[in-house]
Order: sequence, then C-alpha cells, then structure tokens
Amino acid sequence: MNAIYHSADESISKYLLEQCELLKGMSSTSSLWIISRTLQIQAESGVHGDVAEIGVYEGKSFIPLLLSLAKGETAVAIDPFSWPDPEVRQRFEENVRKHAKAEGRLLVHQMSSTDPKFSIEFAKHSYRFIHIDGDHSPEVLASDLRVAAGALCDEGVICIDDMLHPEFPFLVQVVHEFLQEFDNYRMLCVIDREGFVGAAKFLICKKGYVEEYDGALRESFPELVFTYDAKVGAEKVLLLTTHENMIEL
Ligand SMILES: C[S@@+](CC[C@H](N)C(=O)[O-])C[C@H]1O[C@@H](n2cnc3c(N)ncnc32)[C@H](O)[C@@H]1O
Repeated sequence: MNAIYHSADESISKYLLEQCELLKGMSSTSSLWIISRTLQIQAESGVHGDVAEIGVYEGKSFIPLLLSLAKGETAVAIDPFSWPDPEVRQRFEENVRKHAKAEGRLLVHQMSSTDPKFSIEFAKHSYRFIHIDGDHSPEVLASDLRVAAGALCDEGVICIDDMLHPEFPFLVQVVHEFLQEFDNYRMLCVIDREGFVGAAKFLICKKGYVEEYDGALRESFPELVFTYDAKVGAEKVLLLTTHENMIEL
C-alpha cells in the first residue's frame, strides 16, 4: 500500500511500506500507520512509558510498537502462543528479529490474559500505549480493559481491535460499558476497517488529552478524516478511513 504518512523514523516507514503486508496478521496497514503516528505524537510531547500488546500472534502489529520505543522504554508482548500451532512463538520471534532491533527492550509473557499471574506481571509497568487484540469474548475484553486502565499513564492511549468486526458484532458494547464505568476515559478515534480481517479499531484515552491527540491526528492524516465525525453521545469523535472516496456525498 502507498504511504499515508511518512514516519520521521526510517525503520517504521520501511516496515510499513515494504514489509508489513508480507507478514501474516490481522491489523490493517493503515491502522498501523495511525498507531505509529500516535506513538510519535507522544514522543514529540515528551510522553514516556512502555508499550504492550495483548494478542501478538506473529508480530505484525507488535513490530511498529517495538520500532517506536524511545530510550529506556520496553515493549511487552502477551500471548499464549498456542494458536494455530505451538510454532507461532518461533514465527513471532523470527519476525521481530528480522524487522526490529529488540535487544533488552522486549519482554514476552507466554500466557493468557486470563492467567491470574497476568495482571500482576502487567502492572509492573507504566504504559503509554496498549493494544488489546487477544480473546474477543466480552468477559475477557472487559477484564483486559480494566487491567490496561490500571497500568496506563495519564497521557496513555488504549487501542482496541476488532470493533465492528462481523464475527463479534456486539463486542463494542463492552467498550461502551467500560466508558460508562470509567468516566475519566473518552473515545479519541475510530479507525475504519480496511477489509474483513483488517477490522476497525477504537482509540481511547483519558479525558484531558483528547483534544491534543485529535488535533495532531487530523493534521497528520488530512486525507483520511471522514466528512462527519463519529457520534458518541454528545461528543464528536475523529473517524479516520481509507474509504471516503467510495462514498458520493
Ligand atoms: C487476532 S490475533 C492477533 C493479531 C495481531 N495483533 C495482528 O494484528 O497481527 C489474536 C491473538 O490473541 C491471542 N490470544 C487469544 N486469547 C488471548 C488472551 N486471553 N491473552 C493473550 N492473548 C490471547 C491468540 O493466541 C492470537 O495470537
């Protein structure tokens, strides 16, 4: 796919332009440009923290997190690595080795987020970005969101995958309930789907930080800003799509 944004970081641009599409995985390349840019906005604003992904599979969406690390930051990968076969961990490690320099900056927990040890291990870090893409049952997503919220730094962003995915039509309800209970969190952005597997993602963050991210993302991806914002209660939320040109308005 063409660049929708040129990262200031050459390794990120190279990965997203040349390598990402060759990896097996579910996240769309356009969503990974937006995630990478969000991480860069944080770095430009002096936000420091670790990054994590729950459900890394073969590393396609984890590699941009790893490539975005600043000095002293760690990328944490959580996955039982049992699906579709036990060799998936080896493929994850090969991909990470090939596409990112991870020495001393990568922590892999081969476990499910439902493991009682998970929340203890996860809470040992303070994160600036957490990508949730593990078990898509309502109970596990609700639990992953709670654990993530407990370890997120103030300026941090949580990205939730497979929102509005036809296989999980009501999973969005869990996010809605989370936002009602944790009313210091707000929807920041809806990243539209690229295809059936490359489904939509939601970005959420704490209330006081929406405006800054919203402005920076609109400025970074002017061609992707949908004509209308998403309506979330009384709020208008940024909607980024690669499909606007399919709609005659
Ligand atoms: C959809 S795949 C992730 C795809 C990857 N993020 C990408 O975009 O290429 C889901 C992954 O979540 C893992 N998984 C499932 N349940 C999990 C859980 N409870 N905790 C952590 N990982 C889980 C699976 O093993 C699988 O590798």
